[in-house]
Amino acid sequence: MAPQDHGEDIEALLHELRRFAPPTDFSAHANVDASIYLEADRDPEAFWATQARQLSWETPFTTTLSWEPPQATWFGDGRLNASVNCLDRHLEAGLGSRVAYHWVGEPEGDRQSITYAQLHAMVCQAANALTALGVVAGDRVAIYMPMVPEAVVAMLACARIGAPHSVVFGGFSADALADRILDAGAEVVITADGGYRRGVASGLKVQVDEALERCPGVRSVLVVRRTGQAITMAEGRDHFWHELVETQPATHVPQAFGAEHPLYVMYTSGTTAKPKGILHTTAGYLTHVATTHRLVFDLKAETDVVWTAADIGWVTGHSYIVYGPLCNGATSVLYEGVPDAGGKDRWWRIVEEYGVTILYTAPTTIRTLMKWGEEYPMAHDRSSLRLLGSVGEPINPEAWMWYRRVVGENRCPIVDTWWQTETGGIMITPLPGVTTTKPGAAMRAFPGISVDVVDHEGRSVPNGEGGFLVVTKPWPGMTRGIWGDPERFVDTYWREFEGRYFAGDGAKRDDEGDLWLLGRVDDVMNVSGHRLSTAEVEHALVAHPAVAEAAVVGASDPTTGQAIVAFVTIRLDHENSDGLVEELRAHVGQVIGPIAKPRSILITPELPKTRSGKIMRRLLRDVAEHRTLGDTTTLVDPAVVQMIDDMMRASSDDE
Ligand code: WTA
Repeated sequence: MAPQDHGEDIEALLHELRRFAPPTDFSAHANVDASIYLEADRDPEAFWATQARQLSWETPFTTTLSWEPPQATWFGDGRLNASVNCLDRHLEAGLGSRVAYHWVGEPEGDRQSITYAQLHAMVCQAANALTALGVVAGDRVAIYMPMVPEAVVAMLACARIGAPHSVVFGGFSADALADRILDAGAEVVITADGGYRRGVASGLKVQVDEALERCPGVRSVLVVRRTGQAITMAEGRDHFWHELVETQPATHVPQAFGAEHPLYVMYTSGTTAKPKGILHTTAGYLTHVATTHRLVFDLKAETDVVWTAADIGWVTGHSYIVYGPLCNGATSVLYEGVPDAGGKDRWWRIVEEYGVTILYTAPTTIRTLMKWGEEYPMAHDRSSLRLLGSVGEPINPEAWMWYRRVVGENRCPIVDTWWQTETGGIMITPLPGVTTTKPGAAMRAFPGISVDVVDHEGRSVPNGEGGFLVVTKPWPGMTRGIWGDPERFVDTYWREFEGRYFAGDGAKRDDEGDLWLLGRVDDVMNVSGHRLSTAEVEHALVAHPAVAEAAVVGASDPTTGQAIVAFVTIRLDHENSDGLVEELRAHVGQVIGPIAKPRSILITPELPKTRSGKIMRRLLRDVAEHRTLGDTTTLVDPAVVQMIDDMMRASSDDE
């Protein structure tokens, strides 16, 4: 049955059951109880130090935090190796035969279960291969891969030799890849010939080849054979993984690095066209992701099968597919494809077959699954599931309720987790077995994390009012900076409210003090859980020869959360041909990647501007969302926006 058929039921349910007390049988066995908040509040630094001691250190730390805003040093004098924490120590503890990943390729039957011992051997080989290519500690390595085991191996091999990795989402274009390689100064790229997506073998190596025309600094490329498609290999520069890596010795003596040694750089969109390289370092980050993975997901590593259904090209994959689960010795599912590859029940077949216990995904996916109908999950055994998580965007109560009722059979607690690329790990979340949850609310800061909701002046707002979300104390997983741009780091996060981290999100505390996230307050859009800036898409549009000016807004969308809507004016010397809109969409896909293609593009004779020449995006958003236009008095010519509004309505009537 389609979800809309349940519209009224859900409303009724929401009225009746606004709160979900933790199930008692869950609480009885949960990893934590409410006292953890008190303990962490009393001394947050001591709380984090206790957590950090669960890592394996070559040299234990003696100092916990030094804080010179905005620069934090956590566990500064300790030394450790990230890959040892993910692998070697589990082997030493006798867990080598535990499965680290059940890998499921998109084509049916393409699968592999990899134990910790096997993963360790693969990582040692890859570390040896990177060393053979001359990579040393501190060098950056770009990774542009499909969701295959080698992607994880590549990350851990970099970590093992102290070379920060920069994973670029496989859906980005050659141009976007080149920008990131150049910004990070990477000299080595690890990729694959391609990957499978929606049943088609996509080309990755071909994108790398194009990107590298602009990146003369790249001297070596490692290529995993995934699809067998025809590719060209540049003599001396390109090496096949099976030739260079799989012939290396499967042992490698790791070296320890300082706690603040860079672990990775992850590019994310900010409010300008240029993406920011978010830097994470070793010990604080590992402490944060391991702790949150253990407590937020109530992890029982011996028995759980965790499935974080995200791409390793985003931070959710880094923290909760790779580093968090591996630090905790957990077993994960790694799935290559889209949710409906091989049928709309693909996900549920995976859940049933592998006995997935913890499922973590984004609201946009939940809404898509909901749209397909509940017969797909219902047709499969979901009794293994015991906890559900959500991340990436605000979850609407309807999706929350569906997730709980249909996927979780009304028995699995739901954790709605708020965090960002910059925060490294989960910051605001219920604790399962402890927190009484409310559909749509992320509830409360994780133990040891302090947040506030403030007004423009930085004053705490009372319960019931909205404001800006800030983090008021340093935390271990916090980003240590923007790669190569310390000024932008200060300006973006620390200038607005002195000494506090400005997240860029709106939030509200309800009458009981519980937190609800309200979406971005800046020009960052959230499309299907992917962060994109309006400026980035505008930049791509004006790079097209036909475009004079462009304004882009994120309009709310029932499935993708937000959708990209663009308004463009065209150059006088260009004609508005029939195919132009499609051409522009394709062009944006080419410049950034398919995820950035606007849902709609409206070609207009003019854009609404203020007397000082600024484009009024606020009004364009009203237009895009079919709302009554807001205040137009500051415009040079209010008739312009009225005309655009009429055009928009006419064009959506056509649809
Ligand atoms: C949004 C993803 C509401 C938010 C881990 C944030 C959320 C941005 C939630 C970060 C949530 C993430 N509720 N909004 N539970 N989780 N967001 O860097 O706007 O890709 O600033 O990190 O996603 O996106 P990013």
